[in-house]
Amino acid sequence: MSKKNPGIANLCNDLLINSEVEIEIIVQYATRIGIDIAIIGPEAPLAVGLADALENAGIPAIGPKRLAAKLEFDKAWTRKFMERNNISGLPAFGIFNKQEENEAHQYIEELGDVAVKPAGLTGGKGVKVMGDQLPDKDAAKAYASELLKSDVIVIEENLKGEEVTIQAFVDGKHLAFAPSVQDHKRAYEGDLGPNTGGMGSYNDAGYLLPFMIESDYTQAKEIMEQVVRKIKEETMEEYRGILYGQFILTTGGIKVIEFNARFGDPEVMNILPLLETDIIDIIEAMTTQTLDTVDVRFSSKATVCKYCVPAGYPEDPVKDAPIEVGDMGDAILFYSSVYEKEGVVYTTGSRAAAVVGIADSIQEAEKIAQAALTNIKGPLECRQDIGKQLLIQKRIDHMQSLRG
Ligand code: GLY
Repeated sequence: MSKKNPGIANLCNDLLINSEVEIEIIVQYATRIGIDIAIIGPEAPLAVGLADALENAGIPAIGPKRLAAKLEFDKAWTRKFMERNNISGLPAFGIFNKQEENEAHQYIEELGDVAVKPAGLTGGKGVKVMGDQLPDKDAAKAYASELLKSDVIVIEENLKGEEVTIQAFVDGKHLAFAPSVQDHKRAYEGDLGPNTGGMGSYNDAGYLLPFMIESDYTQAKEIMEQVVRKIKEETMEEYRGILYGQFILTTGGIKVIEFNARFGDPEVMNILPLLETDIIDIIEAMTTQTLDTVDVRFSSKATVCKYCVPAGYPEDPVKDAPIEVGDMGDAILFYSSVYEKEGVVYTTGSRAAAVVGIADSIQEAEKIAQAALTNIKGPLECRQDIGKQLLIQKRIDHMQSLRG
């Protein structure tokens, strides 16, 4: 982290405030304080090889080495990897570079309805989809041309359905899966507005979301297991870390939107509070490739996680504004992109803090989260609709209409 996050700082005996991609400084620090195991949270340090550098220094890392982390930081590579390994859930796609602008435009014409993505990392904000951020094919072509100035792009068929996140602990061979979660990417209520890192998320008691059937979950797990096996075969690197699968349930079956080499934000906040197994036992087993001997259990509860974000987020967020956190009731508070100075917590420009309600039903969990959010004061906004019955029912109806 490059600023002092009060939530993290409160949990630390010692901390280093530094850019997360300056590998040498991080490895020196980890060596100096004699840490046993490093758990790497975000994707940027994985993409520059932090796990490799820590392992070289004799520190086991939870987070894949650079070659395996490609799964997240090179979306073009991942689509080709899925194709050559016959991994199911692959949408129609094309990959184009700067010299292939005409071909990219032709492909948009051919597919007719597309999503356009930069191949590299964008914090989840680079994807644009026709019918949402791109009104028509001309807008899709213009966006493709704009992206091509600085990156390879992936153009894919625009998948229609409900999205599901499935996260797993992976020790290179074995996967331990968490309950399914659904994120909300759009900034405003009713799933409108620009894409964000994620405004909130929920899970239901058990492993399935209200609109899922058992086979959706089983198929997603099979895809993730196949990915871990094939990564080893292709890269000679064991995938050790968290594997995040983002899927979409469509009329054509389950499809892969993307993989991440880390927990989801906000989706991690739904699942870790439900973990009944000691996380240290899981982490240690991941370093000794014995995850299959640990009973990884999650309590059968629903959770709703809601973010509060600076007013104007994501386009014109209020930065450096003080916020005050009051009574959180039964909710859990997670500070996100805020910093503390002289006892006061300030916004940055990104998502500020999240609250999580846990209960037997999604509706009860939503009430706990929403009550806590009203006690975070400052120039902040949130999506009230996340976890409310109206939106959940819309998801159920949507899936019912697609399944017929
Ligand atoms: N919630 C999406 C992500 O973490 O990338």
